[in-house]
Amino acid sequence: MTAASRQDAAVARTGIATSALVPSANAGSPEETRGGSAVRGMSAPAAANGPTRGAPRSLLDIEGLGRDGIVEVLRLAESFAEVARRPIPKVPALRGRTVVSLFFEDSTRTRLSFETAAKRLSADVMSFQASASSIKKGESLRDTALTIQAMGVDAIVVRHPSAGAPARVASWVDVPVVNAGDGWHAHPTQALADCFALCGALGRPLDGGAEMLAGIKAVIVGDIRHSRVARSVTQAFSLLGAAVTLAAPRSLLPPAPETWPVAEVSHDLDDALRGADVVYVLRLQAERGAGAYVPSLREYSARYGITAARASSLAPEVRIMHPGPMVRGVEISSEAADLDRCLVDDQVRAGIAVRMAVLFLLLSSGDGASGAELGGHD
Ligand code: NCD
Repeated sequence: MTAASRQDAAVARTGIATSALVPSANAGSPEETRGGSAVRGMSAPAAANGPTRGAPRSLLDIEGLGRDGIVEVLRLAESFAEVARRPIPKVPALRGRTVVSLFFEDSTRTRLSFETAAKRLSADVMSFQASASSIKKGESLRDTALTIQAMGVDAIVVRHPSAGAPARVASWVDVPVVNAGDGWHAHPTQALADCFALCGALGRPLDGGAEMLAGIKAVIVGDIRHSRVARSVTQAFSLLGAAVTLAAPRSLLPPAPETWPVAEVSHDLDDALRGADVVYVLRLQAERGAGAYVPSLREYSARYGITAARASSLAPEVRIMHPGPMVRGVEISSEAADLDRCLVDDQVRAGIAVRMAVLFLLLSSGDGASGAELGGHD
C-alpha cells in the first residue's frame, strides 16, 4: 500500500487525519521525514541511532518545535480530541509501545495527562518516581536514564527541577524524549494544550492559517520569573500571532523580559488588562523561593491577583486561563476560578489531546504503528 492510500484508508476507518504520518513532498530533508513524521523542530538527539530505527525526535521546547510544528500538533490533537468523545476513548495506534514517565518533581496533572494520553493510544505505561528510586541511593541521572532505556522503552517523558535536564537525557538515549517541565526553562506540552484550548474557546479554526491567534491580546500575569510555563506559552501564543503582555512586579519578571517575543511589559495589571482577550494567570512558585520576591501575599493578591472585583470588571468575553495548580485566594479568587469563561478544565482536556498527538508523532515511526494501524476502538 502506498503512503497516500494507507493514509486514505486510515482516515476512512477512524476519521483521524494522518497527514502527519506520511512524509510529504515538501516536508523537508529525508532526515526530517525519517520516522514518518513531518514535525520539524522535534530535535534529534546527538546519540547514534540503530540501523532500523528512524532518527528519534524529541520535544524539548517550543522554540525547537516552531510554528509549523505547533500547527501540526494542534491539528492532529483535534482528531484525538474527537477520540476522547467516543464511548470508548481509545485507539490501538501505539499498541506494543512503552512510554515511561520519569518525574523528578511533584506533579499531578502533567503526569496523569501523559499517562492517560499514552493509554488512550494503547501504549504500555511505566511510571518512575524519583523519591522512591535508586536516585535516593546516589545513582546519576545518566545511569537512571540508561537503565530505563535498557528495559526497552520507546519514549521517555521527563520532568526535572533543573533546566536542560530533558535535553541531557535526550543526548544519552536513542528514543524520543518529551520535556514535561524543566526548572524555569520550558513546558512545551502545557503551551500546546493552552493554544488548543484557547483556539477552541475563541472559535478559531485550527485548519485556517497558521496565525490562528492573530488579533488576540493575551496578558500573562504572575510569577513569570520562575515559570517555565510562561516562557513556553509566550513563545507559542506569539508564534500563532497573538500580542503578549507580561504583567508582574519587577521582582517577578525574568532578567531580560524585553528579549522575549512580547508586545509589552507592564507593572500595572489593570492597565495591562485594557483591551485584553485573555488573561493567563500564573502561580507564585513558592518552591522556587517566589515568596521572598513579594512584600506580602495580601499585597500581591491585591495588585496582581484576579480578585473577585477584578474579574467582574473584565468584559464578559475575556477568557481566564491557568495551567494549574491554582492557589485560590492568592493569584486567583474562587469567584474568578469558577466562572464559565475560566478555561482551566478545557486546558486539562486539551492537555490529553495534544499529548496524544505528540506521542503519536514521535512514536509512529515507519517501522511500527502507522496510519494503516490506526483503526477503530481497542
Ligand atoms: C505548572 C508546572 O508544573 O510547571 N503546572 C503544570 O504543569 N500544569 C505550573 C505550576 O506548577 O505552577
